[in-house]
Amino acid sequence: MRKSVLVLGLVAAIFTSCGDKKKEEVKKEVETKVEEVKKEVAADPVDNIALGKQLFTDKTCTTCHQPDAKVIGPSIKDIVKVYDEQNGNLVKFLKGESPAIVDTDPGQVAIMKANLDGFVKDLSGDELAALAAYMRSVE
Ligand code: HEC
Repeated sequence: MRKSVLVLGLVAAIFTSCGDKKKEEVKKEVETKVEEVKKEVAADPVDNIALGKQLFTDKTCTTCHQPDAKVIGPSIKDIVKVYDEQNGNLVKFLKGESPAIVDTDPGQVAIMKANLDGFVKDLSGDELAALAAYMRSVE
């Protein structure tokens, strides 16, 4: 009798632990799905471009970068053209991980570098990707 109670207890323990594991697995699955959906939303090209456009204005990029004309910095179109031609990575440049390739005049580079060091570094990876998506969308 004692033995069977023990066995029953053991079986019950195993079952509960299995139940817990299932719960954990389901929780993980749900979390993974949520993450996937979040990523999809972030990767939505239209939303990204709209966000990038907003940031481009809010973060004062427009002061120095016009779509077509050189103001203080090169035009957006000129930047994108060079990045396309040279297979450059805009996000990397904005993260300060790759050097300037559009205008390498030290004085000009210093102006842009001041922005990178000043406030661009506070933008998230998603925000930088949105800025790059917007710049690439300018026609
Ligand atoms: C005060 C003026 C100024 C502001 C504001 C400014 N830039 Fe620039 N930017 C420049 C100048 C000048 C250059 C040319 C030097 C260079 O190419 O690095 C430049 C170059 C660039 C380049 C080309 C880099 C390369 O490879 O040569 C990118 C991309 C860029 N800016 C993006 C931005 C974005 C995005 C913002 C807003 C977050 C911004 N800039 C704000 C002046 C500015």
